[in-house]
Amino acid sequence: MRIIICDTAAEATEKVAGFITDQIRARPDSVLGLATGGTMERLYGRLQQAHRDGLSFADVTTFNLDEYVGLPADHPQSYAYYMRHFLFDHIDIDQDRCFIPDGTIHPFQAAADYETLIADHGPIDLQLLGLGRNGHIGFNEPSSSLNSLTREKALSQDTLAANRQYFDDDANMPNSAITMGIKTICSAHQIVLLALGAGKAQAVKRMMEGPVSTFCPASALQMHPNVIAVVDADAAQLLELKDHYMHEERIQQMREHSAGVV
Ligand code: PGA
Repeated sequence: MRIIICDTAAEATEKVAGFITDQIRARPDSVLGLATGGTMERLYGRLQQAHRDGLSFADVTTFNLDEYVGLPADHPQSYAYYMRHFLFDHIDIDQDRCFIPDGTIHPFQAAADYETLIADHGPIDLQLLGLGRNGHIGFNEPSSSLNSLTREKALSQDTLAANRQYFDDDANMPNSAITMGIKTICSAHQIVLLALGAGKAQAVKRMMEGPVSTFCPASALQMHPNVIAVVDADAAQLLELKDHYMHEERIQQMREHSAGVV
């Protein structure tokens, strides 16, 4: 796994925005896997800016990682709403090709439909991921099968606690979600993960340096050949081999520089 350690959250976000815009420039009809959460809000702001600066998303197809069971697309806490609010309504993307699991139909059906859609339109070229404090990716909570496909997952206590800020009262808070599985996520050609802040430091360490284990679903990314984790200094603070990763990255930058110069 390649890890890029940036001094600040803004720099890390800029780096990830660059990977996504480079992907779209190289292949305007890219299939992107998208993520939600607080970390992505500023990133989507940068993509809106890229669009204002001339980048077209007109031929891009997107698949979001997950959606809450029971929330319709017009519910302000649904991820369908989030995506329109933070990105889709501000760019020239065709929203008929912006796919998000359907939280309103039977979860078995929603999950099966989603896998079919990904098979029909995919594979996903670039999958964007956030990272939960408990090591989840999408809503693959600890104990998720590393070989899982899209399905309904119960939200963990950690996730429910983190989500409480977004809901008026606990009674209305969904307790499960339809999420792409870990196998679904890992079938993307490239994965770019963004994790910011000291609250993610433990999860970043377990993802990078812990054993591959269902206890830390993000550790499954160690098995994928093309993952870039972009983190800020706070999120990187517990990494044992931090100096080595920074050395590797300097070599990578030199390689890219000389390839560009030739
Ligand atoms: P966050 O969520 O960006 O709100 O921290 C990330 C995640 O849980 O995947």
